[in-house]
Amino acid sequence: MSGGIAAYKACELLRRFTESGHDVTVVPTRAALEFVGAPTWAALSGKPVHTEVWDDVHQVPHVRIGQSADLVVVAPATADLLAKAAHGLADDLLTNTLLTARCPVVYAPAMHTEMWENAATAANVATLRERGALVIEPAEGRLTGVDTGKGRLPEPAEIFALATDLLARGGARELDLAGRRVVVSAGGTREYLDPVRFLGNRSSGLQGYALARTAAARGAEVTLVAANTTLPDPAGVKVVKVVTTAELQEQVVAASATADAVVMAAAPADFRPSSYADSKIKKAEDGSSPTIELTQNPDILAGLAHERPHPGIVVVGFAAETGDQNGTVMDHARTKLARKGCDLLVVNDVGGGKVFGEEHNEAVVLGKDGSSTSVPRGSKSALAQVIWDRVTELLRDR
Ligand code: CTP
Repeated sequence: MSGGIAAYKACELLRRFTESGHDVTVVPTRAALEFVGAPTWAALSGKPVHTEVWDDVHQVPHVRIGQSADLVVVAPATADLLAKAAHGLADDLLTNTLLTARCPVVYAPAMHTEMWENAATAANVATLRERGALVIEPAEGRLTGVDTGKGRLPEPAEIFALATDLLARGGARELDLAGRRVVVSAGGTREYLDPVRFLGNRSSGLQGYALARTAAARGAEVTLVAANTTLPDPAGVKVVKVVTTAELQEQVVAASATADAVVMAAAPADFRPSSYADSKIKKAEDGSSPTIELTQNPDILAGLAHERPHPGIVVVGFAAETGDQNGTVMDHARTKLARKGCDLLVVNDVGGGKVFGEEHNEAVVLGKDGSSTSVPRGSKSALAQVIWDRVTELLRDR
């Protein structure tokens, strides 16, 4: 870590790595130790902590630490550290480690908005990205002091999740979505009848969030349009919160204009009440039940697939299906793929309420070209990785 106030958050990140069985060497800069002292890092990592190349020289730590790492995470990465890394300076143990690392390197910048937006920092970030590093976008929110803006260190749990996704790909150095813009929708929309009641659905948003996180871990610039979720913002992802299907459509369509891919993992409400009551609807005196008239919402996925924002965009939909007397899950899915006009359709069998809110998922990814990829029961991140594998294949051909 480098010398930013967010160094205190790196303590939790370190704990998450060590508690999940990873072997972690902490390499702080001198400035980082002004914020959190060496004893804290030594106690949490179970190893001695050095900032300079002059300690334990016989073990050649300035080369060994970088060479032997499976992953380097710089959190927080200050503007100064990014500048040094971009220019290949090596005046302490951390910058030496960065020069010798052959593994993926993740920078989690944290600084004031002005520093992040400064042309020098922007150029350094661009250089590091060009050279294959994963520099994640800082989060927005409260900064040190009274100001707010872009520049916060993402939540440690989310940096950890991103790092885990990266490691799960076998340390594939290639960030195959680098330079790509992707849009993911997640969650379930709500259509309000009155100020307190709504029509909604059981979508948890977990699959969409896993898609956003894994895309960021593969280098993409990600916009996550999230409907009524309470999940923490994934590290490095721009999150846009929406409530209704109309808002979801507006945000997804706007972000898709310049996107390489859009994945509709959200469950938009298909219908909305035809009218909205400004005050709470009361029970009728005579005990009669109200009749609620519904209006059909636009199909966002079909709209994007049929009227493409630009010809190169890859459009991915989800289908939650159950088999019935008219056909199997796959029969319905193929029909839906054709009707919606998307490039890929991720099919979940939801017979018996499976999938909703669960940590695990199994699915089949159908392609417009007739292809079919079965993804066995596993984490939603694992399914997300397969979906991005298919998307990158399609993008390669465009
Ligand atoms: N979807 C959408 N806009 C809607 C409804 C659904 O973009 N108004 C997208 C979902 O995000 C998902 C896909 O369409 O990617 C499948 O949605 P689903 O509700 O299963 O499809 P429907 O067309 O509603 O078909 P069904 O008649 O089976 O409900």
